[in-house]
Amino acid sequence: MPLVAGAADWLATTPLSQAMRGSPWLYPVVETVHIAGFAVLVGAVALFDLRVLGCAKTLPLRALGRHLLRWALASLLLVIPAGVLLFASQPREFLSNPVFLLKLALLATAGLNAAAFHAGAYRGVAAWDAGHAAPPLARAQAALSLLLWLAIITCGRMLAYV
Ligand code: HEM
Repeated sequence: MPLVAGAADWLATTPLSQAMRGSPWLYPVVETVHIAGFAVLVGAVALFDLRVLGCAKTLPLRALGRHLLRWALASLLLVIPAGVLLFASQPREFLSNPVFLLKLALLATAGLNAAAFHAGAYRGVAAWDAGHAAPPLARAQAALSLLLWLAIITCGRMLAYV
């Protein structure tokens, strides 16, 4: 895809990209922000998913969801810009890394899975807010979500080695 390659080459010439490569401290600082952000994101999502799967069944799911999912969305303000900056340090190299592409595909799948959950099974949550098992589809989507986030973290960690 010459257009994507051209955009990656252009990105690599920008002062931001040069700073990410040239500064000895910028990359580790941005990576720390990325890690702090996804710790909150994946932590919040995992606790919500475990509740849907039946842990702490007496906790009202809607109240828990309002609390945790707000933190998950807010954490994206750290995770995504920091991830884009890390990417900008070596755009060509990351684009040619299959693990990076797999990570992006898994992120899109996790987003679609969450959107499908909220637009579908979660609409009926009033019937299973507290003290009841969630319907099988909701539990399957929560289990899939946990697997996807684990795979995303694994891909992120593998980037340094592949
Ligand atoms: C939203 C959820 C995300 C999670 C859970 C996640 C997870 C991770 C993990 C676990 C690492 C490895 C950190 C380390 O070993 O020190 C990492 C690094 C990285 N991530 Fe993410 N990431 C996310 C989003 C993104 C996005 C949206 C982008 C870019 C578009 C991105 C780009 C990168 C890059 C370029 C690295 C650096 C790899 C390296 O230095 O070797 N990430 N991520």
